[in-house]
Amino acid sequence: MQQKEITLFDKTFEPYLTESEILEKIKQLAAELDSFYSGKKPLFIAILNGSFMFAADLFKQLTIEAEICFIKLASYKGTKSTGHVITAIGLDTDITNRHIIILEDIIDTGKTLHEFLPQVHNQQPASLKVAVLLHKPEAKKFDVPIDYCCFTIPNRFVLGYGLDYDGYGRNLKEIYQLKPTE
Ligand code: XMP
Ligand code: MG
Repeated sequence: MQQKEITLFDKTFEPYLTESEILEKIKQLAAELDSFYSGKKPLFIAILNGSFMFAADLFKQLTIEAEICFIKLASYKGTKSTGHVITAIGLDTDITNRHIIILEDIIDTGKTLHEFLPQVHNQQPASLKVAVLLHKPEAKKFDVPIDYCCFTIPNRFVLGYGLDYDGYGRNLKEIYQLKPTE
């Protein structure tokens, strides 16, 4: 069936990745993770809100023993010396000596994970890897080590499959791209 453009508020989005393209990549990623983490009982840490659909579909495909938890990252202004601070809400599992895989919907500038990863590192996990659904290399401002990436995409705003525009559009099964204005 031909997918259609979608209009949300003032913006129009055009179809970009189909549901089957997304699920196929996630299946391949799950197979890689299955073989690499077999016997290691890894802990997946999914970053809300955007990654909830990616995390659910990936986790359903895994066959190894694994745990998952969901966190929110809150950012606030610290003191003058600490500047901008990001804290994790909901990380109540002890991650020391655990094999950790961070699940993120999209890496854009890299700022979020650039600030959050050192905090995970400080808690001395046995290993730490990052798996992302989407990566926009052209938007990069901060270095983030990306171990697994489903799709490398151009620097255009995307919507659907967990990703929102002003809170809406997360329920779309496909991923849409902001239509360039003529
Ligand atoms: P940074 O710049 O820290 O951004 O790598 C990561 C977070 O920014 C959000 N983001 C988007 N959300 N469509 C969205 O719906 C996009 O194209 C987009 N680009 C960045 C997202 O919440 C991600 O976790
Ligand atoms: Mg968002």
